[in-house]
Amino acid sequence: MQNSSTPTSEIIVNICNENVSRRARVREHVNPLAKKYSVAIAPPIWTEIYADCSKPLSLDIGCARGRYILQMSQLRQDWNFLGLEIREPLVDRCNEVRDELCLTNLHYLFCNANVSLSGLLTKNSLHEVTVQFPDPWFKRRQQKRRTVQPELVATLADLLVPNAPIFLQSDILEVAEDMRQHFEANENFVNLAGVGNFADDAIFPEHTPTERENSVISQGLPIYRAYLKRK
Ligand SMILES: C[S@@+](CC[C@H](N)C(=O)[O-])C[C@H]1O[C@@H](n2cnc3c(N)ncnc32)[C@H](O)[C@@H]1O
Repeated sequence: MQNSSTPTSEIIVNICNENVSRRARVREHVNPLAKKYSVAIAPPIWTEIYADCSKPLSLDIGCARGRYILQMSQLRQDWNFLGLEIREPLVDRCNEVRDELCLTNLHYLFCNANVSLSGLLTKNSLHEVTVQFPDPWFKRRQQKRRTVQPELVATLADLLVPNAPIFLQSDILEVAEDMRQHFEANENFVNLAGVGNFADDAIFPEHTPTERENSVISQGLPIYRAYLKRK
């Protein structure tokens, strides 16, 4: 996934900048099924968001503090990046950081992705999707709160261009299987590792680790990844 046009060292300096590392205080989890998250946001005027709307668009669902697309937007300046996040203070801080770094190919939206995504973008306007380490919601009665649901997968099938890649990651086997199976169950997607398989490092593209991914790696825990394509 890397396509370097800015030196990595410069990006890391940017990300470690004192202003950037200031943290928003937020609740650890919110319930996406709560009434206050049930209303779809209006789509922004995209030409006022990105300097060049003709660039392909990469979407990161559940971006939290947004560091993954903050880095990717600098590594791949020929793409636009959009992060969706349900905790508003994080989104406000992400967009402040974006502005501090004068990045014109990056934007974050506060919304419930499960409610808002279908109205935000148009058919064939999306070129890549990542869902990385979504909240696990272990209890059976809470599993409807998980981000990847059949309806979200159907929305993505509608928005993604043919051959667009989908990258899924989790450190929780059950959650990773759940996500992968929802995509495999939709006839518009193909699992490049074969149905029922996770991607090994040979096919999962090299990428910049997310915050959660770094934490999992540092603890020596396994990561389960799936790499699919829109047919
Ligand atoms: C465990 S964090 C992972 C963050 C990041 N992707 C990473 O790998 O470091 C999951 C994020 O998804 C957000 N989230 C959960 N449900 C969501 C939803 N329905 N819409 C948008 N964001 C959601 C949570 O608020 C949280 O910030």
